[in-house]
Amino acid sequence: LLVDKGNHRHFMAKEIYEQPEVLSHTLAHYIDMASGTIRLPEAVPADLAALKRVTVSACGTAYLAGLVGKYWMEKYARLPVDIDVASEFRYREVPLDPGGLALFISQSGETADTLASLRYCAQNGQRILSIVNVQESSIARESDVVFPTLGGPEIGVASTKAFTCQLAVLACLAIAAGRQRGVLGEDDERKLVRSLIEVPRLVGQALKLEPQIEDLARDLSRARDVLYLGRGLNYPIALEGALKLKEISYIHAEGYAAGELKHGPIALVDENVPVIVVAPSDRLFDKTVSNMQEVAARGGRIILLTDAAGAEAAGDQPFATLVLPEMYQFVQPLLYAIPVQLIAYHTAVFMGTDVDQPRNLAKSVTVE
Ligand code: G6P
Repeated sequence: LLVDKGNHRHFMAKEIYEQPEVLSHTLAHYIDMASGTIRLPEAVPADLAALKRVTVSACGTAYLAGLVGKYWMEKYARLPVDIDVASEFRYREVPLDPGGLALFISQSGETADTLASLRYCAQNGQRILSIVNVQESSIARESDVVFPTLGGPEIGVASTKAFTCQLAVLACLAIAAGRQRGVLGEDDERKLVRSLIEVPRLVGQALKLEPQIEDLARDLSRARDVLYLGRGLNYPIALEGALKLKEISYIHAEGYAAGELKHGPIALVDENVPVIVVAPSDRLFDKTVSNMQEVAARGGRIILLTDAAGAEAAGDQPFATLVLPEMYQFVQPLLYAIPVQLIAYHTAVFMGTDVDQPRNLAKSVTVE
């Protein structure tokens, strides 16, 4: 299979721009477009209605997709989720009830720790569901059921389109679980599905923030440390933003739950530390505004990712504001992932690093 960069400078840029298309493909695999309801390609290998909990493990960016999945499944399906990075999970000697469901998320399907966690779960009586991008992989082969992400080959070491496709599949799974568990009614399902169908178009709109992000990247490239803050569904996106930035620009970055700011990272804040706040306007927005006030009072430069209402409520506190379209809360992580990817990409380009092949990192980590 020959994959080229097309008109893009890097595979990562190409893969970021492919997202509207690959998200459409992936969603079409899990949604019956005619009725606007979820239609899973195969049955989940456990009774979702009776399930007590789901165990999720994965590594890196795939783990952060799983973390969004946890928020979704707990909120929209009242299904408790235990999640851990696979390198911890495999050695934790986790007690598992027989007949439980274990979920693995992996772009490559070959990550050694994720595969070892899968084998531990299989040996301990779990049914295995995995979300993978490479269908011929070891993780796919050893699973009871595979839910594919239809992202196509991902070449850039830092995962982008695979991540949002993983989110799309997890969102569909959460809706299906919510329906089967009687938490969501038919109308709820249609409303959530409708919001998912809008995602590819909204991603296209979010990509238009690129020129503004390019300007910000110049400023970010001078920072030694960058903080990312988010709450709820957007907390994993803050973690993903920090991960992406450190992976490809080598700038030290940390993602934090916004409410944890005062329990540590606030000590780092001064006029040299940009603070990227991922905060669509929602019922917790006021709390995030007060977190921003604490940052601003210490001279920290806030870059706010929000919507029009959030931009207005934040007033002139932020140093810069990136305004995304209004959208249903359910789909926010899929959309807020886009500026976060572009911020890392353009900062790395500005610094002249090897964006597609960052030092010391591998696309697929098949050793411990
Ligand atoms: C490596 C890659 C990441 C990826 C992680 C998990 O660290 O650089 O981009 O998220 O492995 O890989 P997987 O193939 O299991 O998703």
